[in-house]
Amino acid sequence: MNLYYFSGTGNSIAIVRELQKHLKDAEPLPIARHLGDDEVRDDSEVIGFITPTYYMDIPNIVRDFTKKLSIKKNTFIFAVIHYGVTPGRAFHSLNELLSEKGAELNAGFGIALPDNSIALKTPIRKQPEMHESMPRTIEEVSSIILEKRSVPLPGSSSQLLGVNGKIGSFVLRKIFGTERKRVTSDCTRCGICERVCPVNNITVHDDNVSFGDNCVNCFACIHWCPERAIRYGILKVNNKSHYTNPAVCSTDIMAQK
Ligand SMILES: Cc1cc2nc3c(=O)[nH]c(=O)nc-3n(C[C@H](O)[C@H](O)[C@H](O)COP(=O)(O)O)c2cc1C
Ligand code: SF4
Ligand code: SF4
Repeated sequence: MNLYYFSGTGNSIAIVRELQKHLKDAEPLPIARHLGDDEVRDDSEVIGFITPTYYMDIPNIVRDFTKKLSIKKNTFIFAVIHYGVTPGRAFHSLNELLSEKGAELNAGFGIALPDNSIALKTPIRKQPEMHESMPRTIEEVSSIILEKRSVPLPGSSSQLLGVNGKIGSFVLRKIFGTERKRVTSDCTRCGICERVCPVNNITVHDDNVSFGDNCVNCFACIHWCPERAIRYGILKVNNKSHYTNPAVCSTDIMAQK
């Protein structure tokens, strides 16, 4: 059983670890490691996707990976998609991509976990409850996967949500300016942002930090910077803005690539 995952702040990794406790043959495979591949062949009987929701949809990096994935017939496919508020049409988007290959998303499980988008951050007081309930949910999810039971996909398949997601993406990237990244004078050039970036979009130089133009919006750099020195456009940050899953460390994020 292969578990394909992507994570910026660790929620996917925490879920993968819980799944591994119950699904003994589960092998975690980071999606970021397949960036340069033209095709990914998978012959397993069961495949899982573990991914955050971005802009009420699956992240583009997960979309591009799914397009490259070659799956054998009758594979049981499930997804655990997590989100701060709503998965929007993420499950249905993934199912559409799979159906283009003659496959199907057989079961979908949504989990609410702290929102790392800063603009809609989950209050700190609500986070412990989310973290504590996740393992119980994953235990139930695992028993369904072991039985290969089909489960209706959560969220909506509405194309309108796709449009809303695109507007949300535009607003966050262009108006809030998450594409315009910079570092403050607090930066110590420690190199952590360069190492956590799953797509090698950051270079730390002796005298500055530069950002390229292939950002996948995972927000890893801003959250894992130990000096809180990264800023995205006009997105407001304060000492309560930052979030990383408490069971995950920066080296786990670095190990994705
Ligand atoms: C760019 C961006 C867009 C997001 N869009 C949504 C969204 O549309 N709906 C939602 O509920 N959460 C949204 N989130 C929150 C994440 O889905 C959520 O925090 C997720 O658990 C983070 O996973 P990770 O820790 O594995 O990176 C967004 C986060 C980011 C960074
Ligand atoms: S992680 Fe923060 S302090 Fe370290 S190099 Fe990057 S911006 Fe500078
Ligand atoms: S630049 Fe920052 S937000 Fe963009 S992909 Fe890299 S770590 Fe993620």
